[in-house]
Parts: sequence; C-alpha cells; structure tokens
Amino acid sequence: MLNVVVLVSGGGTNLQAIIDAVDSGVITNTKIAGVISNNKNAYALERAEKHGIPNQCISPKDYESREIFNQEFMKAVDALQPDLIVLAGFLVVIPAEMIAKYRNRMINIHPSLIPAFCGTGFYGLKVHEKALERGVKVVGATVHFVDEGTDTGPIILQKAVEVEQGDTPEVLQRRVMEQAEWKILPHAIDLIANGKVTVKDGKISAIDVTSASGETASYFSKAKGIIPKMISGQTTNVDAASGATYSSNGIITAVRN
Ligand code: GRF
Repeated sequence: MLNVVVLVSGGGTNLQAIIDAVDSGVITNTKIAGVISNNKNAYALERAEKHGIPNQCISPKDYESREIFNQEFMKAVDALQPDLIVLAGFLVVIPAEMIAKYRNRMINIHPSLIPAFCGTGFYGLKVHEKALERGVKVVGATVHFVDEGTDTGPIILQKAVEVEQGDTPEVLQRRVMEQAEWKILPHAIDLIANGKVTVKDGKISAIDVTSASGETASYFSKAKGIIPKMISGQTTNVDAASGATYSSNGIITAVRN
C-alpha cells in the first residue's frame, strides 16, 4: 500500500481528483495518509476534512525564519511516513534536504507541456496567459518527479489539450485541469503505486503499461473508453469511439478526448 502525502496551497481540485480516484478504484494500492497546506484558508483542507483525511496547516508566516519553518515542515511530512509526496498546487519552495531525502518519491503537477511555459514565475494563471500571448495551438499538463530545479525533474506523464478560439486564461486553465491534470495526476500515482515507473539517468526508463494483469487496461477503459487489443502480437490501445490506435509505450498524451 502506497502511503501518499499531498501538499496543497489552494482550491485542491487536484487533491479532489486523487481522493475520487482512490474511492473509485482508478488509483489502487494507495492510501492518502495526510494533507498539508501552507495556507490555512485553502479549500483543499476542507476537502481533506470532509473525507476524513488527516490535515494541517504549516505556514512560513508562523515561524521566525525560513530555516525553522523548513525543519517543522519536514518533521510534519516525515511523521506521516510517506512513500510518495504529491505536490498538488503547492506554492512553497521545497527545502533542498527534503528533495534529496525524497528523490524519485516526490511528484508535481504542472499545467503546461514541459519544457514549454515552465520554470521560475510560471505558476497558476500566468502559465495560461503566456500560452495565449504566444498563440500556441496546443497546451497541456505534465506530471514529473521533483528535483533541485524548477519543473526540471524526470517527466512521468504528459497530456495535450487544444486551445480554442476565444479562450481566456481562466477558460484555458479550467480545460487543462479537466482534460489533463485531473487525469494524469491520479494515473501517475496509480502507476507508481503498482511499481510501474522506473527512473534511470534522469528520465523515466520504463512505464509498464502493457502488463498482462490488465491494470492499465482497466485504467484506460475507466478513464476514456479505450480498450486494449492484440494487434500483430502486441497490445495496442484502441479508442472505442474513434477507432484510433495508440502504441502501448506509456505516453499518455496519446489518449484523445
Ligand atoms: C493546478 O493548476 C496545478 O497544475 C498547479 O496549481 C494548480 C492547483 O490547483 N500546480 P488546485 O489547488 O489543485 O485546484
């Protein structure tokens, strides 16, 4: 059972997607051990409370220095004994000591297709404002492991989302959440919980989505009506609606809406 701690700062829609996916069985072998927010007014804390998940606020504002906050914050995280830490819209800089301690055991969701529109200053609505300013036609989201850089860690899953005419940053943000973030974040947790993600040389070397157990098959069918089929001796994901086929190499951007 993967013990997951979710770190939040705001509304917590990604946290909700994780909670729902655990409840519905889209995420398996996983327990949400606790939720920590740096913001006492974060609605995410209420979402955790409603689901009986231990939750607390630890804010840098309540400590004399960043060093003292970092120590208390790390103590609180460690006390929950996480196998995996999920940054779901967490807006506090993670202490270097914690990054090292939880290397390849801490993931983040970013609302763009990294390496576009990421790094320092790209958070929240700004990401979508910049994408619209640049006039890109495709945006999306990325789940990646956290390393010492900003949005530079090994990429686990990405999913593309189309920009539509007349999009405002708010409308685009919502579409990216609905079509990408709330899907790939739970999917990444499920893959990790089932030992399917391997990191080598700073990259994901294996996402075993072709396992004979059919776990991935059930994820695809639950999520999108996509069914696996044997074609030329290989498992291929086939979109039940469009008939389009996708190779089973774990690149979730292949899943169409
Ligand atoms: C999401 O867009 C996520 O990608 C980013 O912060 C936002 C958090 O939203 N890192 P919510 O609190 O999960 O609703």
